[in-house]
Amino acid sequence: MKKNLRSLLIVAASLMLVVFLAGCSNNEEAVETDNSLPATGNSALNPDDTLVVYYSLTNNTHELAELIGSSGNLELARIDAANAYPEDDNSGINDRVAEQQANNQFDELTNVPENVADYQTILVGFPIWSDEAAYPIQSFLAQHADELAGKNIIPFSTSAVVDEDVIAGIQTQLAEQVPESNILPGLNLTSSQIEAEAVETFLQDISLDGSSTANEEGTPIQVQVGENTFAGFINDTVTGQDFLTHLPQTLTFQTFMDGYPEKYTELDYELAIDGMPGDTPVSGALDYNSDSQSLFVYYGEVGTYDELHRLGQITDPAFEAFVSQQEEDFDMEIRLAE
Ligand SMILES: Cc1cc2nc3c(=O)[nH]c(=O)nc-3n(C[C@H](O)[C@H](O)[C@H](O)COP(=O)(O)O)c2cc1C
Repeated sequence: MKKNLRSLLIVAASLMLVVFLAGCSNNEEAVETDNSLPATGNSALNPDDTLVVYYSLTNNTHELAELIGSSGNLELARIDAANAYPEDDNSGINDRVAEQQANNQFDELTNVPENVADYQTILVGFPIWSDEAAYPIQSFLAQHADELAGKNIIPFSTSAVVDEDVIAGIQTQLAEQVPESNILPGLNLTSSQIEAEAVETFLQDISLDGSSTANEEGTPIQVQVGENTFAGFINDTVTGQDFLTHLPQTLTFQTFMDGYPEKYTELDYELAIDGMPGDTPVSGALDYNSDSQSLFVYYGEVGTYDELHRLGQITDPAFEAFVSQQEEDFDMEIRLAE
């Protein structure tokens, strides 16, 4: 729904611009804890500030959660549905979830830690059920949305197959349950992929400002607004590579909507998005919106959207404050770094 609202807003803003131009005529306590193992790797997660909450029906997600817990030295809490789901009746599960969703009825849960609000970062684990997060986890998030406001949520899941579109859809779905939380890129594995190495790489790549370390490998750029120059990079992705072919370019950015920390400009060309996931932009992110063929720059967080694809990042710390102060439209030149 949020996504539709966003697309509508973009269309509405475009229509308003057309009308305007026409008018101008010229123009828990955690239930399981293991603190005996030392943390390995260089995870950005602080064990004192991080909780792992997960649901698992047939123990695949449990296995993954245990590896995450031991590798990151993190507290684990395995929640369950008070009315337990059957282990051997997929269609029964699907029917029950569909009925509960139709009635706006979430699962009553057991073993939920009482101190969720004490943690800044919550890793949330679940099996994928019919392309969605298992319903007990949707229930947990919806029931704790207030406590989770302003917190980092890092999803991890297991499924029979890995499908990037499904993962992107789930990120969007989770953002609807906890609209005030910061949902970061997560980990999805099949049962045969659950192993310590994958978990350690995942933990090491987590960056709590939302930028995967993988994103830091890209082509250096500079953006210039008036006399001000800021450094950044364009990601080494299909969309980023396509965008590079249009540089240097000067684009006029305008306010998206009052109260939204983002400026945008419509592009007169399409960018390739083959295989690109949706995105959860962070401050400084440059994103391509494939629904509205627009380029967005962010100075805050807005949630997760399928139609947004990360292009790159303006890394200069001064950029956020600078852009947030631009009340009028402004020209921004984007060029390869000298
Ligand atoms: C009701 C139900 C629906 C499922 N739907 C999907 C699905 O849409 N896609 C998928 O890849 N796997 C699906 N699976 C497989 C589970 O996601 C997979 O076996 C997962 O690892 C189970 O995790 P668990 O052992 O922690 O419960 C489904 C399983 C169940 C029980």
